Amino acid sequence: MNHDVVTGGAGFIGSALVRALLAEGRDVHVIDNLSTGKLDNLEEIADQVTIHELDLRDYRRIAPVIAGARRVFHLGALPSVPKSILQPVPSHECNIDGTFNVFHAAAEGKAGRVVYAASSSAYGDTEVLPKVETMAPRPKSPYAVQKLLGEYYGSVFSECFGLETVSLRFFNVFGPRQDPTSVYSGVLSIFLNCLIECRSPTIYGDGEQSRDFTYVEDVVGLLLKASQAQGVSGKVFNAGNGNRYTLNQTWQLLQEIEGIHLPAQYGPPRPGDVRDSQADTTAAVRELGHAPRFTFEQGLRLTLDWYRADLLRKGSGSRMDPQLVS
Ligand SMILES: NC(=O)c1ccc[n+]([C@@H]2O[C@H](COP(=O)([O-])OP(=O)(O)OC[C@H]3O[C@@H](n4cnc5c(N)ncnc54)[C@H](O)[C@@H]3O)[C@@H](O)[C@H]2O)c1
Repeated sequence: MNHDVVTGGAGFIGSALVRALLAEGRDVHVIDNLSTGKLDNLEEIADQVTIHELDLRDYRRIAPVIAGARRVFHLGALPSVPKSILQPVPSHECNIDGTFNVFHAAAEGKAGRVVYAASSSAYGDTEVLPKVETMAPRPKSPYAVQKLLGEYYGSVFSECFGLETVSLRFFNVFGPRQDPTSVYSGVLSIFLNCLIECRSPTIYGDGEQSRDFTYVEDVVGLLLKASQAQGVSGKVFNAGNGNRYTLNQTWQLLQEIEGIHLPAQYGPPRPGDVRDSQADTTAAVRELGHAPRFTFEQGLRLTLDWYRADLLRKGSGSRMDPQLVS
């Protein structure tokens, strides 16, 4: 039992985690079908990682990779609320069937532990903020249901099959390598690229919806802690930063950082979107040792620098169309 597996390791968060595992000297295996992730995300470390271009829906092919792993970080998913509404079938199959396959393969193959990337979308709209793990889930979209079901499977595999599992509810994660080119991209990747290209973003709704933006390195740090903490099997933890910014505040802050004035445009609200999001991090701090290191502004500056350098590296000008974000 020695290698680590990262499903979705060619994605935004997965590729950051792969880098952290390599820095620990680990033998890392990535399972990814490159549907939303890309090999570019692993470019300079590709020769240090074993990449299995496989689909999580294909149990027979992923099971041998997972068997005997020390840790399985399950991040592979189609991670989009709007996509799960427009195309519910692939979303259901990847996020539910694929997740079941990972837990099943880990239990059958006697893997050490599965750390599962859950989502704050499971909370839906709550009357009270911040959101605490003890609140009843109120998912508002197929994606939110799918991610919640993965948590339930994690707890049940722990209870019924003795598999060590931990679920981390990610809030809005941002940072280098987040793909800004799709209509389903995270709001911050779109904001930052609009900023670099001096274009106004279009915000769905009034912009007063708020998010707990979490810098990717803080999420990676918590994934590693969750893979080692004792006495937490079957549990679910918030993996946010504990803060909350509205989209209007965020766009204002970015304009101030850049010293420009570029008012946003507004479009209609999007179905399935949660109004406010903020994590209560008490349990993650107490039981996992969660200790976010980056303020929102630090994370924004680091990410902005990365997108700028990436644009220069690729030698391209504009690489995205105007987007609607929420
Ligand atoms: N980014 C966020 O703010 C956020 C918030 C909450 C939860 N999450 C969860 O974190 C995880 C990582 O998200 P991300 O933002 O890095 O997204 P991402 O799209 O960059 O990464 C997901 C990866 O999974 C791969 N994948 C998708 N379907 C697959 C399949 N059937 N078989 C194999 N690989 C498959 C994709 O190719 C991609 O590399 C996801 O599980 C997502 O639900 C992310």
